[in-house]
Amino acid sequence: SHFCSYEEEKPLRGSGKDALPTYDALAQMEYLDMVLNESLRLYPAAGRLERMCKKDVEISGVFIPKRTLVIVPTFSLHRDLDLWPEPEEFRPESKKNEDSINPYTYMPFGTGPRNCLGMRFAIMNMKLALVRVLEELLLPTLQRNTGQRENFLHSVLLMFF
Ligand code: HEM
Repeated sequence: SHFCSYEEEKPLRGSGKDALPTYDALAQMEYLDMVLNESLRLYPAAGRLERMCKKDVEISGVFIPKRTLVIVPTFSLHRDLDLWPEPEEFRPESKKNEDSINPYTYMPFGTGPRNCLGMRFAIMNMKLALVRVLEELLLPTLQRNTGQRENFLHSVLLMFF
């Protein structure tokens, strides 16, 4: 169909010698996305969110007076034993089914009308940086030292821990 051929024609890389992967190429890298999500779960840049209560309110039987500072413990939620299987482990593939994750338990960029303004920009740049590191530093090393697969995997793991 028309749409299929359009998909196929999207370039995966810009032009020029040091061309970066395109937005479409990055969008196709599913495992990269999973690795990033898992890294932000274990190491959220903002470990907690805060909101100032604007008026007296009762939520689920808890009374919160006006001007109370409410803290949302993102870091702890991301590692809650009741919410995640083996929360301390780095397992990108185990959280593949994003639909099953309650959005109020995984909030590396916050949530609601005041969530992170730069989320998409940040994700795209982190992906670009990771792809560059893999391409420029790790893969050439692997190609030079054939038979050193273990070293390569070790380097990749070191990047994430
Ligand atoms: C890995 C990178 C980043 C992480 C993990 C992150 C995380 C966050 C978090 C947790 C908040 C608070 C959200 C809330 O309270 O609900 C926030 C707010 C914000 N972030 Fe980011 N951020 C990142 C990168 C960026 C970048 C690159 C920009 C700008 C280009 C940016 C701009 C903002 C702004 C303007 C706010 C305040 C939004 C508001 O109060 O309405 N962030 N970010």
